[in-house]
Amino acid sequence: MISQTLSTTEHHHVCPWWKAYTFDNPIRKLLHQPQNVLGAYVRAGMTVMDVGCGMGHFSIGMANLVGESGKVIAIDLQQKMLDVMLKRAKRAGVAERIIPHRCEADNIGVQELADFILAFWMVHEVNDKSGFFTQLKSHLTPKGKILIAEPKMHVNSKEFDRNIETAQSSGLRCCGKPAIRFSIAALFEASF
Ligand SMILES: C[S@@+](CC[C@H](N)C(=O)[O-])C[C@H]1O[C@@H](n2cnc3c(N)ncnc32)[C@H](O)[C@@H]1O
Repeated sequence: MISQTLSTTEHHHVCPWWKAYTFDNPIRKLLHQPQNVLGAYVRAGMTVMDVGCGMGHFSIGMANLVGESGKVIAIDLQQKMLDVMLKRAKRAGVAERIIPHRCEADNIGVQELADFILAFWMVHEVNDKSGFFTQLKSHLTPKGKILIAEPKMHVNSKEFDRNIETAQSSGLRCCGKPAIRFSIAALFEASF
């Protein structure tokens, strides 16, 4: 508990675990249905990453989409987020498809490549965005896609456009701007 408090204050923008309950509640299942938001990108058998997975709304959703032959690498800075995510995943019967990984602020620290990477409502909490996008690209399979979604109440379109420019300078190409409730979003692929 003490180390949890320290780790959230060291990175001043990071959403504390208790605050996640304010948006990650039963209503969200209707507003951000994983099939609606991610069904176009995530298919059975894929390996996918949920970076900044929080309490696992989309990690669990993606575990359903990838099925028994796929896997989800659920990554977060905060152990408490991973603990709640796993508890929920067990309840949903998909925990065996999810690999939890506690990362550092500037180092994702996994080896795997992913067919799809999600960073939902978390990029505004990352200090070194250029380094972050470079790392995401390094974990992408050649035809893989990355979806970045930011909360409209925290990130305006000017700020988001700057993120897109940073991502493009880090070797990614914006290939779509999907509509997601309460969010501003962009889809990326690796630019070669
Ligand atoms: C606002 S929450 C969103 C959680 C989840 N993506 C969702 O949509 O429910 C942001 C999450 O990103 C995590 N986070 C912040 N910076 C991070 C970083 N550099 N690497 C990994 N996770 C990070 C926080 O710990 C927090 O769980």
